[in-house]
Amino acid sequence: MMSQYKRTYITKADFILHGGDYNPDQWLDRPDILEDDIKLMKLSHTNTFTVGVFAWATLEPEEGVYRFEWLDKVFDDIYSIGGRVILATPSGARPAWMSQKYPEVLRVNASRVRQLHGGRHNHCFTSKVYREKTQQINRLLAERYGNHPALLMWHVSNEYGGECHCDLCQDAFRDWLKKKYNNDLKALNNAWWTPFWSHTYSDWSQIESPSPIGENTVHGLNLDWKRFVTDQTISFFENEVVPLRELTPHIPITTNFMADTYDLIPFQGLDYSKFAKHLDVISWDAYPAWHNDWESTADLAMKVGFINDLYRSLKQQPFLLMECTPSLVNWHKVNKAKRPGMHFLSSMQMIAHGSDSILYFQWRKSRGSSEKFHGAVVDHDNSVENRVFKEVAQVGKALEKLSSVVGTNRPADVAILYDWESNWALNDAQGFAAETKRYPQTLVQHYRPFWEQDIPVDVITKEQDFSGYKLLIAPMLYLVSEKTIARLKEFVANDGTLVMTYISGLVNEHDLTYLGGWHKDLQEIFGMKPVEIDTLYPRDRNRVNYRGRSYELKDYATVIELNTAKVEGIYEDDFYANTPAVTSNQYEKGQAYYIGGRLEDQFHRDFYQELINKLGLKPVVSVKHGKGVSVQARQAPECDYVFVMNFTEEKQPIVFESKVKDLITGEEISGELILDKYEVRIVEKKR
Ligand code: GLA
Ligand code: ZN
Repeated sequence: MMSQYKRTYITKADFILHGGDYNPDQWLDRPDILEDDIKLMKLSHTNTFTVGVFAWATLEPEEGVYRFEWLDKVFDDIYSIGGRVILATPSGARPAWMSQKYPEVLRVNASRVRQLHGGRHNHCFTSKVYREKTQQINRLLAERYGNHPALLMWHVSNEYGGECHCDLCQDAFRDWLKKKYNNDLKALNNAWWTPFWSHTYSDWSQIESPSPIGENTVHGLNLDWKRFVTDQTISFFENEVVPLRELTPHIPITTNFMADTYDLIPFQGLDYSKFAKHLDVISWDAYPAWHNDWESTADLAMKVGFINDLYRSLKQQPFLLMECTPSLVNWHKVNKAKRPGMHFLSSMQMIAHGSDSILYFQWRKSRGSSEKFHGAVVDHDNSVENRVFKEVAQVGKALEKLSSVVGTNRPADVAILYDWESNWALNDAQGFAAETKRYPQTLVQHYRPFWEQDIPVDVITKEQDFSGYKLLIAPMLYLVSEKTIARLKEFVANDGTLVMTYISGLVNEHDLTYLGGWHKDLQEIFGMKPVEIDTLYPRDRNRVNYRGRSYELKDYATVIELNTAKVEGIYEDDFYANTPAVTSNQYEKGQAYYIGGRLEDQFHRDFYQELINKLGLKPVVSVKHGKGVSVQARQAPECDYVFVMNFTEEKQPIVFESKVKDLITGEEISGELILDKYEVRIVEKKR
């Protein structure tokens, strides 16, 4: 809401970035291929290339011996065709000489085993040597390329993640704890509930990071360790960017975020809500398993939409798709190619949700090693007749017609609250059911009705401003601090509508339960209190009667004691049959709804339909369509850009209820139109 119709250019480019990871360092003995690259870049309608991601061994083949000439040429060649460079810092992988000479740069795993050199993303994030070395090479890169006209952005490291348990990291963790608990070991013991199984610490030196033995015992320790890992990763990043900020303050900085694949949920390893504050631009690597055999194309598209809306909302501005595959990957369980049309459709979906780029991993398929069969713009055949190459060029041509979309945002009246810490703590909790906690997936369940009705949603985090939203949905917010409770209370008091569910508000920021029943402020907001949580076996079912209709319930049900709340739905079965399952409560100027159990999708559709009507929530542009078609919009001060996307394998009729202009064909359209399988129409509607 805060960003109504504003344009924010996240880079200096006023066009959509199209291109991706380019590894000329693998081909330096093939000048003919490097020459072909430049020709093919033009032919594929690409314009931006990320270089140097894993090039450290080529940049610094021996300690203190640098080779930049090849990179100079890459910069100049790309610039000669009007292209731009996203320059990576190389810390994601390091040269063998460094691991050999300074073993402390190698990561130590949770079992306290130092890893051998090899692979990537396996460095210690505390090592002074590694920090010095990365800063040094970054400084040289900034000095040499900082003023090159092709330089568009910094891509710092690659997909930060993982943790190190070496002695240096243990010390850093203890220092972090001393700071957090003001040197008061008793405060730490209290916060971590350490008398449990005799875990009380009598000296700071006894504290160790979680290990495979007993790792799930002291939850406060686990939670603080995860927070430390985020902070230490950010601290490593901040060390890397010192020379970049100093020498190139005009060049924006990003690092590529991830998602956890199969279920396509936000990456769990780092708290991105904290990391986001240190970046100028959010970017992420999206690898959905299109055409898989366990979900519909539309259901997967919805999950992609959810993550996009989360990563966009982190900074409330456009983001970048830093990596995707134009065809297939090499690391899914089954590496299926995108069917014809899917690359175009999935690319446009990213733009629709706020991306100002379509960038690939990878430009050219490598000849050897583990990514030789990973999809690329240029295949081993080096051919422009390649189907994938042609589909990339088709995307490129379309993007050239969409440059007016750059910088526009997607204001929303609805927000869903996503919290990394709460998810960590919930997953750690020994209780409920191991397999059915599914916090991120539950949020997607609540996202569904809005996605199906084309109503824009922000997915925000607990520190963001709630006040601009009409509706705030915070399902399964297991961990919630007093501070957040106070902010939720204020939101409802000031005319906000809040929805919460089962397994919410159970523990504070130390993962300690609230004593005396549910927090009194939550009781006041909701006019009720949850008194028991029933966990069901996977095949158990109950039902909830809501407004005269019966809906299936599984996994969780909350027994509710009413105070001022109104009963909206009741359980049909079990020892709590005929007791409240769904409640609403007027609190000051606002409304608070509580959903006691995990209900089927149809319940969410019907439940949220009432709120949609009541709060006057609407799509940006009204387009009639059937199931599996998604309409997403970006809004400029003068017009709306609307993406109508068919995520089904069938033809789909759609109806534009007003006159619009097709941005690809230039034609004016209105009324009915048939979308082909996977077809997208991108239209502009003047306001
Ligand atoms: C990640 C990495 C890339 C590449 C791709 C392959 O996203 O950042 O370097 O390995 O995966 O899909
Ligand atoms: Zn370490």
